[in-house]
Amino acid sequence: MAEADGIVAGTVSGGDGDSTAAAAMTAMWVDPRFRRQGVGEVLVKHVIEWARSSRYDEMFLWVTDVNANAERLYQRNGFVSTGAVQEVRPGEFEHEMSRKI
Ligand SMILES: CC(C)(COP(=O)(O)OP(=O)(O)OC[C@H]1O[C@@H](n2cnc3c(N)ncnc32)[C@H](O)[C@@H]1OP(=O)(O)O)[C@@H](O)C(=O)NCCC(=O)NCCS
Repeated sequence: MAEADGIVAGTVSGGDGDSTAAAAMTAMWVDPRFRRQGVGEVLVKHVIEWARSSRYDEMFLWVTDVNANAERLYQRNGFVSTGAVQEVRPGEFEHEMSRKI
């Protein structure tokens, strides 16, 4: 959780991925009042650091195809598309990204 002046500015989760060597990043969210101020960047770096200290080799996440803001944030932090795609709702797709830890 990222906090600014006692207000929750954003959240992110890290946990086990599909394999024992991989971690997953989920639930990335920044309160609209705090967006475009680097909070997302801090959260991504924090969860990568958590994965590193927990000795994972790789981290995965899913991002919807229309979420260019989030995709740029992940790309800036070393994530690349794996090529895996899944349909989350009819006609709405998300793709997987990963990076080595
Ligand atoms: C995607 C999301 C997490 C990004 O969070 P954020 O805190 O705005 O991210 P950052 O501030 O680190 O970066 C966003 C942009 O602001 C810019 N920025 C960061 N600090 C800045 C500053 N001080 N001044 C001006 N611009 C700044 C970054 O360069 C980046 O630019 P870009 O649009 O060219 O990529 C946020 O928009 C969000 O919660 N969206 C809804 C939920 C969501 O989509 N979650 C992801 C699901 S996969």
